[in-house]
Amino acid sequence: MSLLVTKELVKYFGDTHAVDHVNFTVKHREVLALIGSNGAGKTTLVNLISGLFPPDGGQILFRDRDVTHESVHGRIEAGIARSFQLVNLFDQLSALDNIALTIFSRDHKTKKLVSLASADGAVWDEAYEVLRLFGLDAKARMLAGGVSQGERKLLDVAVAYALKPKLLFLDEPTSGVSTREKAPIMDTVTSVVRSMGISAAIIEHDMDVVFNYSDRIVAMHQGTILADGTPDEIRRNEAVRTTLIGTADAH
Ligand SMILES: Nc1ncnc2c1ncn2[C@@H]1O[C@H](COP(=O)(O)OP(=O)(O)OP(=O)(O)O)[C@@H](O)[C@H]1O
Ligand SMILES: [Mg+2]
Repeated sequence: MSLLVTKELVKYFGDTHAVDHVNFTVKHREVLALIGSNGAGKTTLVNLISGLFPPDGGQILFRDRDVTHESVHGRIEAGIARSFQLVNLFDQLSALDNIALTIFSRDHKTKKLVSLASADGAVWDEAYEVLRLFGLDAKARMLAGGVSQGERKLLDVAVAYALKPKLLFLDEPTSGVSTREKAPIMDTVTSVVRSMGISAAIIEHDMDVVFNYSDRIVAMHQGTILADGTPDEIRRNEAVRTTLIGTADAH
């Protein structure tokens, strides 16, 4: 049984068929890579699933429930969280505060919050635990704007993870970091995802990362799904080889 299913999902921007009748699935407990050249429709697909804007057609089912017209908050409550292609952090707050704020907003407590100092102990304990899971506990008191780029990317994933999702969408978690920093980021992210028994759908351009870390790969091209299979199947897929693999690393 699938965790998430899209049926004939459509989003057009004028003449651009950004997402064109896409049937996309994410299974329980899998790490899925979503690949495709620039403009293929990857971010738009995630925007539709996370509720940032409505589709022009089709359906989104999450845990067998139709969430096509659900609000962003409703989808977060259902268990869908995402990070953004550009990190989405409060740079003037500490790493710990960034996580704590997310936990507060998840629990609808922000209205009662006069200042972060008035937050209750359980929130700080949970925030610290999230940082620990991501290996960032030593950075808890540092400003989010002051940690290294690799740590910022991890902190951004940790913020999405603090929403307690069943499905975590990550839009290019290793973009903008050195090749050396990519493996530790992916090791951490995939070990959290696997140990917590959740699923992740990761948009990624670096094919070494894609082949090393994913159980399944979905390749998009011009708004449609070009291929869907295991890393071995995708490696051998002629359409993917000619359309994507030659160009993907150029990003
Ligand atoms: N809000 C928008 N308004 C108009 N056109 C858009 C909008 N968002 C995306 N597009 C267009 O839709 C197409 C798909 O874009 P999308 O951002 O989904 O691609 P992508 O696969 O994420 O690419 P990249 O790898 O560069 O991030 C592109 O042609 C893009 O220009
Ligand atoms: Mg994108």
